Amino acid sequence: MTLAKFVDKLPIIRTIKPKGRMDGVPYYQMRIQQFKQKLHRDLPETTVWGLEGNYPGPTIEAKKNQLIKVEWMNELPSKHLLPVDTTIHGAEPNKPRVRTVVHLHGGVVQPDSDGYPDAWFTNGYREVGPEFKKKIYDYPNMQRGTTLWYHSHAIGITRLNVYAGVAGAYIIRDPAEKRLNLPKGKYEVTLLIQDRTFNDDGSLYYPCEPKPPIPNVCPSIVSDFFGDNILVNGKVWPYLEVEPRKYRFRIVNGSNSRFYRIGLSSSQPFYQIGTDGGFLESPVIAKKILIAPGERVDVIIDFSKLRGDNIVLTNNAPSPFPRGNPVNLTTEGQIMQFRVSKYLTSYDYSTIPYRLNIIKPLYERDARLERYLTLVRETDKYGRAFLLLDDKRWDDSITIKPLLGSIEVWTLINLANSTHPIHIHLVNFQILDRQPFDVEHYKKTGKILTTGPAVLPALNERGWKDTVRANPSEITRIIMRFVPYSGLYPWHCHILEHEDHEMMRPYEIIT
Ligand code: C2O
Ligand code: CU
Repeated sequence: MTLAKFVDKLPIIRTIKPKGRMDGVPYYQMRIQQFKQKLHRDLPETTVWGLEGNYPGPTIEAKKNQLIKVEWMNELPSKHLLPVDTTIHGAEPNKPRVRTVVHLHGGVVQPDSDGYPDAWFTNGYREVGPEFKKKIYDYPNMQRGTTLWYHSHAIGITRLNVYAGVAGAYIIRDPAEKRLNLPKGKYEVTLLIQDRTFNDDGSLYYPCEPKPPIPNVCPSIVSDFFGDNILVNGKVWPYLEVEPRKYRFRIVNGSNSRFYRIGLSSSQPFYQIGTDGGFLESPVIAKKILIAPGERVDVIIDFSKLRGDNIVLTNNAPSPFPRGNPVNLTTEGQIMQFRVSKYLTSYDYSTIPYRLNIIKPLYERDARLERYLTLVRETDKYGRAFLLLDDKRWDDSITIKPLLGSIEVWTLINLANSTHPIHIHLVNFQILDRQPFDVEHYKKTGKILTTGPAVLPALNERGWKDTVRANPSEITRIIMRFVPYSGLYPWHCHILEHEDHEMMRPYEIIT
């Protein structure tokens, strides 16, 4: 079944108000529930998971340096919406099937508010995971203004919980941003992009097992999954009516496995102003922008000369990225449509300033140490391929223990054949460079033999990042300072099928 495109309006996700105050600060209640929602004009209602009655969940808007408290409440039924593989770490048969814990992606928070994968809980906290510490999370928002997003992070079922709908945006507003005079109010829109496949009755389809199936394991995890419908803010291929003026779009790739290389059918450029961790130094003008799962981009699109036009937001990233199938232009090659059909209601005084931010570089010479970390493909006891970080599993003992306040360089050595978006909790980092190397030589000798020059990150990656694309046959070097908290945090691949199948490791910041 192919659904008609651009027949539903883009939902503008509401911003949730605090439920009240607690200890003198705003307190939010975010109830995770199961309900039905219309995802496309021609689809019957779909049973989804979401928050406060909406999939995706409402947006939390916080002010920089203003602490807020959030209680993520599990009000889900005890039966999972999607097939749970009980051979996966943390999802064993003795564990409750429906568990949640919410991580604020990109948030600088204490470990007990981070949404650690083993800190899960069930409906009414009847059962909790081994790392569960508290119900109400503290988000200090003492970090640069930017677009974060929240999503379920429960061990072994993150891919299923996020696919079911447990995700939403979280914006940190820095009042100092006002002087930049960017498009705001109704001219600033968050776009959360996810791909989904549906059964004919409108229900969510997620594969029960790979093809060909794995003997004796059903349901079984798949190594990745690409839906053939693209949803933005919970609607399949929506449209947005815009005025002929500049708009700011905060784009989040909340898909399980799919990368997007976005473009505009009008072949005009985006003005990219921000990345994961806030503003770039100056806008980067680009016709294509690549966004891996977990990454965010902040862009301005200027519709002022396009009155009357319909413009499609396109995608041409192969799946899996970068060596997979080319996009099907009639489905996954399109994301949404902008219709420049509205009249200009007021003069557009907004600007795209040349200078947005000052980004102080971190220097290699200040690094306390450099870690060499492989991304490597292995086979599990059922014969399924899976990926490891540093050749270790989630439950292996902790080997990465950065000193609080210290700077480290991590060299990600990708021995596998696809790009892995590597996300590190707590810290923002800078990308130093990427360099091709001889994979076979490394596998034989354990030594890096480079085969070309080191390349600086793309212009639009020269800002603060929390998720970096580690490409196949390349080493990717990042640098970061481990502040401001000590304790246990995860780092992992943000392809959720990889994360759930051992491509995630804890690290511990020590004092
Ligand atoms: Cu967006 Cu640990 O994840
Ligand atoms: Cu991966």
